[in-house]
Amino acid sequence: MTAIDLYNRRFVLFSGKGGVGKTTMASSFALSCARRGDKTLLLELDVKYKASSLFGATDIDFEIREIEDNLYASNVTPWEAMKEYALMVLKIKLIYKAVFENRVVRNFLRVIPGLNELVMLGKAYYHATETDDTGRPVWDKVVVDAPATGHGIFFLKIPAVITDVISSGLMYDEAERILELLQDPSRTGIVLVTLAEDMPVNETLMLSDVLREEMKLPVACVVANAIYRPLFDDTQSQWIDVARDEVEGDDESMVSGFLEAARFRNDRVGMQQDYLQRLRTDGDWPLIEIPHYFFDRMSFAIIDKIAEDLHQALKIESSGIESTGTS
Ligand SMILES: Nc1ncnc2c1ncn2[C@@H]1O[C@H](COP(=O)(O)OP(=O)(O)OP(=O)(O)O)[C@@H](O)[C@H]1O
Ligand SMILES: [Mg+2]
Repeated sequence: MTAIDLYNRRFVLFSGKGGVGKTTMASSFALSCARRGDKTLLLELDVKYKASSLFGATDIDFEIREIEDNLYASNVTPWEAMKEYALMVLKIKLIYKAVFENRVVRNFLRVIPGLNELVMLGKAYYHATETDDTGRPVWDKVVVDAPATGHGIFFLKIPAVITDVISSGLMYDEAERILELLQDPSRTGIVLVTLAEDMPVNETLMLSDVLREEMKLPVACVVANAIYRPLFDDTQSQWIDVARDEVEGDDESMVSGFLEAARFRNDRVGMQQDYLQRLRTDGDWPLIEIPHYFFDRMSFAIIDKIAEDLHQALKIESSGIESTGTS
């Protein structure tokens, strides 16, 4: 296992299968960075469910807005990113308007494969490398909530695909610059989020292989999300099993429901521990575990709790760096 120092990387991307907690983790990590004093930008790429709403900001769209002290957010859509980029290149608003308000051009741009992903990554790249008049970085951290795996691999693959199939021009230069940043482990960290379940674990192992071996991208760590806390020790568990068998079929028993619930919880814990073990043996990245929280609705309070969990876990990992000197 190698130690990580995620807080020292400027560009951190969260990826993983659909519904595993990428948005939750990206938001919590961004909040923990902001709390440490880093000026942090949370970029959500073309999502319907906006993490920024958890911060009480319901109307975050493309424009960057402050949602907490030191924490800023934007919901990036391909179309807005394309317009912003075009404005930077074309400079003159009138020409830009003539081009972008043309329906034919609009429809044409929509169907170029990979262009949507490239412009959204381009926007993230721009902010990750953005400097002020004195040459100092504008952002200490740019945190990206990337699309789900499948789509996610395609998304991260785009710069390499473009530099492979075209050999010069604006799009090539842009893709090459983005690829260089993405592959640089001193600036970039990819965090894979997973649940301790069969499909997400398989997909995480597969995704990690593709990212590292094929694409040479720095997978910094894996976050195993929503882990159940064991409630019973071995002796208690044995007792639960025996007692459960004894009351089985006894509908009058006052405790059968409790024993059933206890056994169910133990089974869930056991299953998750097996998958965590699989992640530890089949993967060689640091593994961070985040507890399962029970709530009616995801809220800022939960994001805040997970931010603290991440902070604690990363502090332990980073202290490993100082003592072992690995990275
Ligand atoms: N640690 C946790 N404990 C309990 N519930 C959680 C935890 N983390 C996330 N959730 C819940 O799981 C669901 C999925 O989380 P989230 O939206 O962050 O996933 P996602 O990977 O971004 O999904 P998508 O692929 O749809 O964008 C949400 O309802 C969220 O509130
Ligand atoms: Mg999401």
